[in-house]
Amino acid sequence: MRTLITGGTLVGPLGATPTDVLVDGETVAALLAPPSAASRPAVEADRIIDATGKYVIPGGVDVHTHMELPFGGTAASDTFATGSAAAAWGGTTTIVDFAVQRTGEVVEEGLAGWHAKAEGQCAIDYGFHMIMGGVDEAALKAMDSLVAHEGVTSFKLFMAYPGVFFSDDGQILRAMQRAADSGATIMMHAENGLAIDVLVAQALARGDTDPIHHGLTRPPALEGEATHRASVLAQVAGNPPLYFVHLSASEALGVVSGARAAGRNVFAETCPQYLYLSLEEHLGAPGFEGAKYVASPPLRTNTAPHADDLWRGLRTDDLAVVSTDHCPFCFAEQKELGRGDFSKIPNGIGTVEHRIDLIYQGVVAGKISLQRWVETCATTPARMFGLYPRKGVVAPGSDADIVVYDPAVTTTISAATHHMNLDHSAWEGFEIAGKVDTVLSRGSVVVSGGQFSGRAGHGRYVPRGLSQYLR
Ligand code: URP
Ligand code: ZN
Ligand code: ZN
Repeated sequence: MRTLITGGTLVGPLGATPTDVLVDGETVAALLAPPSAASRPAVEADRIIDATGKYVIPGGVDVHTHMELPFGGTAASDTFATGSAAAAWGGTTTIVDFAVQRTGEVVEEGLAGWHAKAEGQCAIDYGFHMIMGGVDEAALKAMDSLVAHEGVTSFKLFMAYPGVFFSDDGQILRAMQRAADSGATIMMHAENGLAIDVLVAQALARGDTDPIHHGLTRPPALEGEATHRASVLAQVAGNPPLYFVHLSASEALGVVSGARAAGRNVFAETCPQYLYLSLEEHLGAPGFEGAKYVASPPLRTNTAPHADDLWRGLRTDDLAVVSTDHCPFCFAEQKELGRGDFSKIPNGIGTVEHRIDLIYQGVVAGKISLQRWVETCATTPARMFGLYPRKGVVAPGSDADIVVYDPAVTTTISAATHHMNLDHSAWEGFEIAGKVDTVLSRGSVVVSGGQFSGRAGHGRYVPRGLSQYLR
């Protein structure tokens, strides 16, 4: 089957240019000058997609999702089936989810469990990082084996959540040393969890139980401190690629900027919630509404320029990637577990469907360029996690993961119309200029004309190589 996407503006590493895209089977066969160019030969295709007036971009690559994550006494509400379909609706054609080694569990068994959850369920392609819940001798050996044999080349460590996923500095150092040898990437959740636990206990003892206290007990300084500590530990360990996940605070960004200016292999992502939502307006919403916005790190105050700094970081590449940290929990029965005790509210926000739209609003507002939108949402995450050029670019030989994006249509986000398995939306009422029009996953149309034509099981596991940003 040959598909010709014609009349659109292709956005990619070379900028935004009028280009037709020929897809043959599952891959991109050719990029063609528009038909008006006299020298262009006729092209035969079985299917024509008219992209006139629209952008043609690589399918989004969301490198931070948590489908079905058991967490906070419950489990994230999207399965691989529902979450991957919602991702496709929003123009994301690859997710990299976090397989989990729980403390005391064998790493390889944790990974096998994640394969079992995802196998045959996904509408789009997927890969895995590994959460290291217990760094010991066996786990360190397993890291090498996962890199060499399983296509899992990145490992998340937690300086937060003592008693759950937390690693101490010695464990972190040892995992970093291992990664420095193998070339694997260390992904860091940088918040000082031990100090946070003291503040949480003190707040609860005072009777401060509302959702806003989740944010007030996780101050930006404790993200900055942990970011600095992790950066120093990585330097001591021999400079493995160090990637800070869900960076939310100016203090942490300053550390990353400094390390990058010094030429270090230090990278970071942020997420839409830190660009658009705030501690006061959302986490501090009346009653228990703020529970919808409980995630870690927490939403930051709008009385300091965190969000402006993050947008600047995206412009300057100190923030290389926008991912979602998609970790949805329904309000009923899940977020409600924490009524009367904010520390029992399951941590996470669901956004996998809206990332491309939300970051496009930064283009509309003049905060980032069209090209940077595509880089941060597709090309750079693919490069960062060893998926490029198969993913993240529309180029001959690449998988035909392609989104036709219509900048002329306006939509409004609502739980009533989204496709995530979630009974509310942190983005309720957000007006979006632009809309995903058509989505191809490996050459198959999975979304078109407001209809979903994907299927569970179309998506395949994609083994990944090492980061392509090593210095
Ligand atoms: O609140 C969050 N971020 N939940 C998901 C787990 C994590 O730390 O990424
Ligand atoms: Zn985290
Ligand atoms: Zn996460």
